[in-house]
Amino acid sequence: MSSTRILAIETSCDETAAAVVEDGRHVLSNVVASQVELHSRYGGVFPEMASRAHLEAIVPVVNQAMRQSHLGFGNVDAVAVTHGPGLAGSLLVGVNAAKGIALGHGLPRGAVNHLEAHIYAHWIQVDSTDAIRLDGAWETGFPYLAFIISGGHTQLILMRAHGRYEFLGGTLDDAAGEAFDKVGRLLGLPYPGGPAIEEAASRGKPSGFSFPRAWLKGGYDFSFSGPKTAMFRLVQQYGEPPKGQLQADLAWGFQTAVVDVLSAKAARAAEEFGATALLLCGGVSANQELRRVMTERSPVPVHFPPLFLCTDNAAMVGACAYRHFNAGQLAGWDLDVIPGLRLA
Ligand code: KG4
Ligand code: ZN
Repeated sequence: MSSTRILAIETSCDETAAAVVEDGRHVLSNVVASQVELHSRYGGVFPEMASRAHLEAIVPVVNQAMRQSHLGFGNVDAVAVTHGPGLAGSLLVGVNAAKGIALGHGLPRGAVNHLEAHIYAHWIQVDSTDAIRLDGAWETGFPYLAFIISGGHTQLILMRAHGRYEFLGGTLDDAAGEAFDKVGRLLGLPYPGGPAIEEAASRGKPSGFSFPRAWLKGGYDFSFSGPKTAMFRLVQQYGEPPKGQLQADLAWGFQTAVVDVLSAKAARAAEEFGATALLLCGGVSANQELRRVMTERSPVPVHFPPLFLCTDNAAMVGACAYRHFNAGQLAGWDLDVIPGLRLA
């Protein structure tokens, strides 16, 4: 059987990314141009700046991904792109680029849901042990519990089969990553707050600061406004952004509270729905403390992609598009962006 190569594009938020993926699992190239430096000046993603930065970066990024793959457009079978959820102006850049490439080279188009793409990061082969996993249990071990924890989303999703998803719960206010970013700003830490809080927390210890956990009557929804407001009040009490040991202890307290709720709810959902594995997805799943606690509490094996596949990238888009392509699900020329697209 000949292989299927997909050029994938991702521009839903603040990374301009392109990748070439073979058969949904082999990454032939993977290029990510981050806008972190640009947005760090504002302490968060500035939507109009993001779309303009995508416009500047998209062609060089696609060209680099093609060069890295050592393929010409003539050797690519389809072009796939994230069409939601995300920032409208950012998504438009990727979708239009994909249409232009498809038009120029006579290629079929695939439209990918960014959330589904985060899940398919798990099907990408990273080393030879993964190949064994992928050929075996990964195709038959359903249901999996996918936990998407990123800057824009916090969703527990039961994956019953390829393409079959049930929404179990999600955030009622901020996404977990967004809460990390906002609290990072309160603590005077650089953007993005997630990695900065993790680093500060590694020097912190329990010190009596209390951060509430929103258990929400035991359901699978989440809320992070409680610990965020608690941090706001504590920082206000001190009158200026904390430094040194105080900053580290506050970061530790906040991270511990968030990790506690995330891991407890995911572990319970895995049990209740008979999942065979827990798949952590999205930027926040890069957090080592979250990985540790989740692994300790989960009744089933916990999988996390390598860091470069946790945060936004186009390889995961190519992996996801492969399933659609094989199922004959292609997008028409009327393909539009859907900023509020849901998975289930
Ligand atoms: O998946 P992602 O790259 O983009 C979205 O789709 O949102 O996730 C970005 C988010 C940011 O909020 C960032 O602060 C968070 O992931 N993040 C982390 C860590 N690394 C990235 N949060 C906690 N700990 C980390 N180590
Ligand atoms: Zn994402």
